[in-house]
Amino acid sequence: MRNKIIAGNWKMNLDWQEAMELGNKVAAYVEESTKAEVILAVPFLYIPVLSELTEEQPKISLAAQNCSEYRKGAYTGEVSASMIRSAGAKYVIVGHSERRKYFNEGNDVLAEKVRRVLENDLQPVYCCGETLEERNAANHFDVVTTQLETGLFHVNDDGIDKCIIAYEPVWAIGTGVNASPEQAQEMHHFIRELVKSKYGNHLSDKISILYGGSVTSENAEQLFKCADVDGGLVGGASLKAIEFSEIIDAAS
Ligand code: PGA
Repeated sequence: MRNKIIAGNWKMNLDWQEAMELGNKVAAYVEESTKAEVILAVPFLYIPVLSELTEEQPKISLAAQNCSEYRKGAYTGEVSASMIRSAGAKYVIVGHSERRKYFNEGNDVLAEKVRRVLENDLQPVYCCGETLEERNAANHFDVVTTQLETGLFHVNDDGIDKCIIAYEPVWAIGTGVNASPEQAQEMHHFIRELVKSKYGNHLSDKISILYGGSVTSENAEQLFKCADVDGGLVGGASLKAIEFSEIIDAAS
């Protein structure tokens, strides 16, 4: 049985005080009885201080939202995977559609980032997903296949079971229009089959595939019930403690 995972992606939101308050509220909520693993993908700055919180609450881990494709050196403004690791995070989101769109990150650069993440004993949450135009042109399976084959499937058998895949259709992110459970299940099943054809049954059964895109407390349960949906990557709704707690409950 794959564990359910609920990851909150705070994006570039919340000042220091607000971030500490939200982190504390989520930690207070996540109880012993919560079955899902909770990941908070927070701005880099907040990782060291929030990692004190996650030490007390082992069901919560921290993620960075991005990392540099370089190891170290003269890359002003960049943050390396090894820094993220030493600051106390366990995961790194790689290839979020906002990175792809606004920062021109293509699958080759993302492949490098995945390498940096794994070589620092961190775990990537690798995002894939099509735009509305790509779906309307019936290209969505091809787009996701290329994103995975180029960006992630260079990883060997030892590494792939440390990876989490997040399917996030771009048209569903921040729009209030979530993929239907049928659409999500169809793509998640497709992705699991891709993993299976590359890595075999055993590994494809182990890999968690999260759905992201307008997940709310209203639609979470229906989405998480789907056979190949192993939890969610939640943006806007992860900024509200009660709403996020309800989403965690829907996965538990
Ligand atoms: P959303 O964002 O839940 O606000 O749609 C999801 C994401 O970008 O990861």
